[in-house]
Amino acid sequence: MLGADQPVILHMLDIPPAAEALNGVKMELVDAAFPLLKGVVATTDVVEACTGVNVAVMVGGFPRKEGMERKDVMSKNVSIYKAQASALEAHAAPNCKVLVVANPANTNALILKEFAPSIPEKNITCLTRLDHNRALGQISERLNVQVSDVKNVIIWGNHSSTQYPDVNHATVKTASGEKPVRELVADDEWLNGEFIKTVQQRGAAIIKARKLSSALSAASSACDHIRDWVLGTPEGTYVSMGVYSDGSYGVPAGLIYSFPVTCSGGEWKIVQGLPIDELSRQKMDATAQELSEEKTLAYSCLE
Ligand code: LMR
Repeated sequence: MLGADQPVILHMLDIPPAAEALNGVKMELVDAAFPLLKGVVATTDVVEACTGVNVAVMVGGFPRKEGMERKDVMSKNVSIYKAQASALEAHAAPNCKVLVVANPANTNALILKEFAPSIPEKNITCLTRLDHNRALGQISERLNVQVSDVKNVIIWGNHSSTQYPDVNHATVKTASGEKPVRELVADDEWLNGEFIKTVQQRGAAIIKARKLSSALSAASSACDHIRDWVLGTPEGTYVSMGVYSDGSYGVPAGLIYSFPVTCSGGEWKIVQGLPIDELSRQKMDATAQELSEEKTLAYSCLE
């Protein structure tokens, strides 16, 4: 996640009923003899967990179960994020980078930002790389090409079923150069319909199949998110990250919204100037609208 030669000390936090299981995870980490793992702190004390951390991956939350909507878990998670934000604010390293994974990820990140005002807003992000990778996977399966040859899909908006997976700028590396995904797929009905729906609903489909939320793909995409943020995106490649909106692309400022970004020197930058067609505009606005409503709901849970 941080490069092939970066040693790490892992801080793991869980709730007291899970302390024994957490210690079991620590035992396994020790037993794995990872050469870069220089220490493991396994704790149920949020202050001990947050002290001095440089990268915080917030996976803790009340998980969505089959049949539950993300909004059902809002009130449980808002109070968790408020408490963890205060601990990060007081004890994390000054330039700590934060990735929120637990749902509702965008709004949890917003709550975290509110209650950790000294952490720069550019350092607080949420995970939509999972959706981004899902979109790459769907295109690669459809075209029967290597997933690593597909790039520049975009996830706009919320990590929810209103997200907009956009392939208008996506390309595939072929023997005769890079070709637009739209040209190669040559089926706008699929790209504007089933493809979008499959990516939007993938989290729910996995819960239905596994009776549990995604785990491997979520963890792997969290590593991708942090790795690209810290080490940079390849030239000509953009990735999707949930970041604090500055009003780019007409998205209301003050939401944590997924945009196409490039990263360099440990900083992300929203890719500017992409042409947005009418269908995209509608879908980008719909997911922004949902995020505004979630924001209102989250604040009402805090009262
Ligand atoms: C996912 O996208 O796999 C998860 O965010 C689904 C969920 O709601 O837990």
